[in-house]
Amino acid sequence: MATEKTFYLETFGCQMNAHDSEKVIGTLRRQGYRQVESEEEAGLILYNTCSIRDKAEQKVFHRLNDYKRLFKAGKRFGVLGCVAQQEGEKIFERAPHVSLVSGSASYRKLPEMLSRLEAGEHRITGLDDRQTDETFETEFTARQNPYRGYITIIEGCDKFCSYCVVPFTRGKERSRTSTSVLAEARRIGDLGYTEIQLLGQNVNSYRDPEGKRSFAELLAAVGEVPGIRRVRFTTSHPRDFTRDIVEAIDQVPTLCDHVHLPVQSGSARVLRMMAREYTPEWYLERIAWIKSARRTISLTTDIIVGFPGETEEDFIRTMDLLAEVQYDGVFAFKYSARPNTPALVMIDSIPDAEKAKRLQVLLERQREIQRINYSKQIGEVFEVMVEGQNLARGQIAGRSSQNKPVNFTCAQPIAPAPGSYLQVRITGAHPNSLRGEAV
Ligand code: 5AD
Ligand code: SF4
Repeated sequence: MATEKTFYLETFGCQMNAHDSEKVIGTLRRQGYRQVESEEEAGLILYNTCSIRDKAEQKVFHRLNDYKRLFKAGKRFGVLGCVAQQEGEKIFERAPHVSLVSGSASYRKLPEMLSRLEAGEHRITGLDDRQTDETFETEFTARQNPYRGYITIIEGCDKFCSYCVVPFTRGKERSRTSTSVLAEARRIGDLGYTEIQLLGQNVNSYRDPEGKRSFAELLAAVGEVPGIRRVRFTTSHPRDFTRDIVEAIDQVPTLCDHVHLPVQSGSARVLRMMAREYTPEWYLERIAWIKSARRTISLTTDIIVGFPGETEEDFIRTMDLLAEVQYDGVFAFKYSARPNTPALVMIDSIPDAEKAKRLQVLLERQREIQRINYSKQIGEVFEVMVEGQNLARGQIAGRSSQNKPVNFTCAQPIAPAPGSYLQVRITGAHPNSLRGEAV
């Protein structure tokens, strides 16, 4: 009997990576591999990596180092994703026990690369330097989340923000046809999923290659797929954020009350250096559209502090913007210089301690904003999708349409199943979650 083919896969980074891993797992299973839960059990050890900041990138090299002894036992290592595309064959120098290096734009070639690996070849690469027009679609996606189905609608990025590695790691921007997106949405609905999350580095830069639907029309069409109760989309770029997206949310009940719109900075000067192609005023106009919707749409954002040359004055502009928008959530990061990016030539002059201080000031202020925002929802009743339960505390964990975590009690003797929907009255609030009771 031939020995069984097994693999272990660990994923780092964003939802795009999480979903890519679902497709990679499906592809490996088609090739006769079985997924196992640890490096020790596996014949093939894969890391799907993130390089958005230096810290994320270092993680994979730590992992590779921790397990390199397993190479002698015959195990093989592969590095996938953004670090793979960024570092390419340099990975073989730094970690000679790695046999396979592939960026996300080459996953179509995975079956062939796996066959070569099985034939004993060492140092196999799938690297695409912004060449490919292909998207990676597979009907074998092994969905890991029991109630949320991810669908990639657009891959890559052509924006070239000066700090960002993504245009180099994920290739040029390319959209799937809306026909194929809708076919996948219907398949997901038929399988019993009730939530769909549309994914893209700039999801709203979507351009239907067949010219049939705009992004807002695609959103609305996905929202009307039988069985689908919630549709989310991430991440939006302010530059391509059009008013018809807000109109679609107002008109189609299944589109969730949440927009994630990364601003990065509140300073016009810093935004120019970042090559974001908008001013704070322009951004705030989009925020005004969202706030004038009939539904209350929750807003979240991403911010970078300590971009090269960011002055105290620039940082205050960002704080002013936070006060003005009153976000429900902020992901804030210290600037990290990345290979290939235009900002590399700017001197990363702000000491780490100063970046850390700005980050802390910002997060403390934002916590206060969220404490107030979240407590305003006490007394309201929301539909909550059940995600799990905390047995120790006798609580059910779920999420509102606004994407806020809701922990609640439920009088029913049997706990509601993950993926089910309940009406919950909000009885308490924290800066990052709500408490309540099922009604
Ligand atoms: N340094 C710090 N943060 C970054 N981001 C992207 N590139 C960098 C970088 N070089 C942040 C941005 C982006 C989020 C996904 O990560 O805020 O929106
Ligand atoms: Fe990280 Fe960006 Fe790659 Fe996602 S696309 S894994 S955030 S570098």
